[in-house]
Amino acid sequence: MVATTTLKAMTTEDKNLSSLQGDTTPFTDRIGILGAGRAGTALARAAATVGVPVNIASSRSPSQMKYHLAQYAPQATAVAAKDIGTDVSLVVLMVPQDDLDDVDPESLAGLTLIDATNRWDDMPLPIWLEDGQSAGLSSSEVIAEHFHSSRLVKALNHISHWDLDSDSSTRQAQQRALAVASDHKAEAVLVARLVSTLGFTPVLVGKLAKGSLLEPEGEIFNQVLSVAQLRTLLHES
Ligand SMILES: NC(=O)c1ccc[n+]([C@@H]2O[C@H](COP(=O)([O-])OP(=O)(O)OC[C@H]3O[C@@H](n4cnc5c(N)ncnc54)[C@H](OP(=O)(O)O)[C@@H]3O)[C@@H](O)[C@H]2O)c1
Repeated sequence: MVATTTLKAMTTEDKNLSSLQGDTTPFTDRIGILGAGRAGTALARAAATVGVPVNIASSRSPSQMKYHLAQYAPQATAVAAKDIGTDVSLVVLMVPQDDLDDVDPESLAGLTLIDATNRWDDMPLPIWLEDGQSAGLSSSEVIAEHFHSSRLVKALNHISHWDLDSDSSTRQAQQRALAVASDHKAEAVLVARLVSTLGFTPVLVGKLAKGSLLEPEGEIFNQVLSVAQLRTLLHES
């Protein structure tokens, strides 16, 4: 029954995307994580368990982060926020959305940028983000316009830091699907490889506009879903 539903839910676009996500070459490049709070350090620990090296930055200097990182992300290398894009193949944005005005787009220019951010409750937003969303765009579409010199991919936002940090055998056994949305196919495939290496099953869901389905108000957010269940929810939304 589930298989029939899934087949019905598969459009031509899905099938094209499915063939792209067949690249399961392990991801081994160094990544940058901007934000060293609950989400950023959970991703750093998950990356360490699968051998992906991490540079991490917060609003504090590397020396000010020393004791924090010794406890929460001991294998990550602390760098200054302005240097997060140096010597890495992609950067994961894991700062609160209300702090995005303090992130210099130039420091991320030319990079693949994973937008893992969410809005919580009535958190005040930067004016450009509030205006773009009021105009009907998904938050990632607006963030992509703001960081227009980067190639943006929405991913890793709809899983909690607790689940990101589960042990790698649990992650593999769950075969939990995580969505990847982008207007840039090559970058989406790169991010899908990272998601797969972390022990999840990536699902390329199409363009950034679909990112709104992954946001906190949606049915996908914070749910442990298989590939079939994720695709079904995407098509029903
Ligand atoms: N928590 C989750 O389960 C989860 C899961 C997926 C996605 N997310 C998303 O990830 C983002 C962060 O959430 P969180 O729970 O990790 O928040 P958090 O615990 O409050 O941590 C926020 C981090 O962002 C850093 N930061 C703030 N402004 C910065 C700037 N301009 N440059 C560099 N770093 C900056 C902070 O630096 P300092 O430490 O120096 O203050 C802190 O390390 C949010 O958008 C959230 O929606 C969270």
